[in-house]
Amino acid sequence: MYRAIIKGFGVERRVLLSHCCGFAKQSGRIVLGIETSCDDTGAAVVDEDGNILGEALNSQGALHVEMGGIIPPVARDLHEKHIGNVVNLALQRASVKVQDLDAIATTVKPGLALSLLVGLHFSKQLVKTSQKPFIPIHHMEAHALMARMTDRVKFPFLTLLISGGHSLLALVKGVDEFVVIGKGLDDAPGEAFDKTARRLKLKLLPQCSGLSGGGAIEIVAKEGNPLAFKLHPVMTQIADCNFSFAGIKAWAQKEIEIEEKQHGIEADGIIPNVADLCASFQYMVLHHLAKRIQRALLFCELNSLLPDDEKVLVISGGVASNMFIRDGLTRLCNHYNCSIVCPPPRLCTDNGVMIAWNGMERLKLGIGIAANPDLVDIQAKCPLGVDASSDVCRHSIKLPRIKLLEN
Ligand code: KG4
Ligand code: ZN
Repeated sequence: MYRAIIKGFGVERRVLLSHCCGFAKQSGRIVLGIETSCDDTGAAVVDEDGNILGEALNSQGALHVEMGGIIPPVARDLHEKHIGNVVNLALQRASVKVQDLDAIATTVKPGLALSLLVGLHFSKQLVKTSQKPFIPIHHMEAHALMARMTDRVKFPFLTLLISGGHSLLALVKGVDEFVVIGKGLDDAPGEAFDKTARRLKLKLLPQCSGLSGGGAIEIVAKEGNPLAFKLHPVMTQIADCNFSFAGIKAWAQKEIEIEEKQHGIEADGIIPNVADLCASFQYMVLHHLAKRIQRALLFCELNSLLPDDEKVLVISGGVASNMFIRDGLTRLCNHYNCSIVCPPPRLCTDNGVMIAWNGMERLKLGIGIAANPDLVDIQAKCPLGVDASSDVCRHSIKLPRIKLLEN
């Protein structure tokens, strides 16, 4: 896989090219996936064996970082501007025409309403003219199932989705059989990363140019000590698997203010111990995630929810591309004889491949194909599966201490 910056379509576009684009031998049916739930316009064509035949992605990320956050009408306008080209490019790279497709799958929930609508309107038009089956997709289901394509993960498995809009821990029993064990109570982890990065003014650092808030914190944290600041424990008295990142975000904001005052930092200055702060912030996020996953693994063990000989935790979503977090969670999972599977970073963040693959999984089972595509609508908010998050507390599961850091 290699990255290429392709100029065209008015603005500089970051397009991801899979090594197999246009070259993979097609196996069985093919599905086109379209993703516009937030700020990435993605499209891809995959086959039954999970070969990526062609893909294209236009990311608005760098622009939104510049603007200090995602402005929905701006995201909508950029989706509208690029969706036609992104879809055409994915089809071209796959060397297929719309008529060759077996289905078209599109994210319709959850996400930013204005962004979702662009993908849905475009897809409805394509479905109408081509008369192809239409498969509406739940964005979180797509993140969770990606590892079945990249690593052939079998049901049941545990999945952790950590992104800019969500945090969720669920048992995945089938393509559309999710049991939620833990859910976010306030800010999503990516939101905490983004707001902390913004408060730290990381975009002023050359090494952070064009990176998301999370990506910037990860880079800067490499030079810092994760234990430089005292750990700010989160919900340690509550024996469930739910997530809260508002406290960690507030902790960071407070510490930055103290440091700025202490060092007399001006408006566009950066605190001298920025690396330590980033490293400690990242460690606190890891620590909180790890405690919730540890309890989920023990909960699954108590209720025989995962096979003893093949326990798998899939982590996905933009925050899961963080290598420090991946390493820490791997140490935890090793302790419980559970393998950890993370799709490559480009398939962890929003992309068209996961939507196409989710469509393929549904097509194979013959489920979720819209009877009347005209009646399909978007849902900005939409829970996934059955909520069993309150069952966890009943077991009062205590958590033994486990080392998350290297040394
Ligand atoms: O899944 P995603 O691409 O979009 C949705 O939110 O659905 O996730 C984007 C989020 C952003 O908040 C971004 O800051 C975060 O993922 N992110 C990271 C990293 N790369 C992206 N967070 C921590 N570490 C990273 N390396
Ligand atoms: Zn996402």
